[in-house]
Amino acid sequence: MKKRAVIQAIGHSVPDKVLTNHDLEKLVDTSDEWIIQRTGISERRMCGPGETTSVLSIRAAKEALAHAKMSPAELDLVVVGTVTGDMLFPSTSCLVQAGIGAVNAGAFDVGAACAGFIYSLSVATAMIENGQVKNALVVGADTLTHFIDWTDRSTCILFGDGAGAVVLSGEEDQGRGIMRTVLLADGTGSQYIDLEIGGSRYPTTNPESAKARKCIYMAGSEVYRFAVNAMGEACCRILDEAGLSPKDVDLFVPHQANLRIIDSAAKRLGLSEEKVFVNVHKYGNTSGGSIPLALYEAEHEGRLQPGMLVMTVGFGAGLVWGANLIRW
Ligand code: UT7
Repeated sequence: MKKRAVIQAIGHSVPDKVLTNHDLEKLVDTSDEWIIQRTGISERRMCGPGETTSVLSIRAAKEALAHAKMSPAELDLVVVGTVTGDMLFPSTSCLVQAGIGAVNAGAFDVGAACAGFIYSLSVATAMIENGQVKNALVVGADTLTHFIDWTDRSTCILFGDGAGAVVLSGEEDQGRGIMRTVLLADGTGSQYIDLEIGGSRYPTTNPESAKARKCIYMAGSEVYRFAVNAMGEACCRILDEAGLSPKDVDLFVPHQANLRIIDSAAKRLGLSEEKVFVNVHKYGNTSGGSIPLALYEAEHEGRLQPGMLVMTVGFGAGLVWGANLIRW
């Protein structure tokens, strides 16, 4: 019988430090009113000293394992969707594997920016469905505030730090679990969001690298236009492939980048407000952490009930985009 990958439990982690729009007013020429009107964000979380992506990931992973009542030794796989790993290598997933004591698990990172969780969930699901692994930990985590230019008002208002983790297990197919995934990419748009320094193009050892950007760069309007199309395309495609329509969706959990982008996707799909989960006002854009953090909060608010059809959708640097359909 076909195996399904089923989410057993979710964990999360955000730093304690809160950075409000009013704090940002003191750093750049902006206003609480502008930020709320253009993005829907009121505050975001920011890592303190020693708080790295693996630190947040380990906290989220431990919470997920505790809720799943699973020992770390039972995990066969640790996948972390991140573009802000602690180091270029080793992978952050190896740090998480060691940090939680997943002594029987393989570990690797998936680099798909804000779609990192969607991509990671897809890979782990396929490995469960083909029988290679039984239990997987899938983390989405980013700490972009480490890479912000705090004088650039077009980016510093948007991003925050956060992580979410799910324990995923193979079960006999009973019509619940990760039902379908769509993954898309267009590398010709790679110049629209990037972080140049530190890779093999601009290694820190090369004097030529002085010209490379050391902080996040984003062409806001281009990314905005791409995001609106990408969200619509991924959602329509996944529903179409599943033979479903937007009215079958019980909860829409989109990447939390900008409330206007979320609203326009919901409008295109004809989804009413109560079917759309939003927490961008509290955390800003936490990149790979965004969707699992939203799933975590949705579950804790009682908005995710067994049998519900959940549609996630994300987009980000790459350019990449994609969606998951999950029967809760
Ligand atoms: O996960 C993927 C990552 N990224 C995204 O999803 C971001 C996608 N893009 C966006 O969310 C929006 O493009 C932004 C929120 C970044 C910008 O909003 P916008 O409505 O596209 O503004 P804009 O870039 O067209 O700028 C409008 C004006 C400009 O002034 P002028 O040229 O009209 O005088 C900007 O200089 O707003 C100005 N502006 C600001 N003003 C106050 C830009 N940033 C700020 C700011 N405070 N923080």
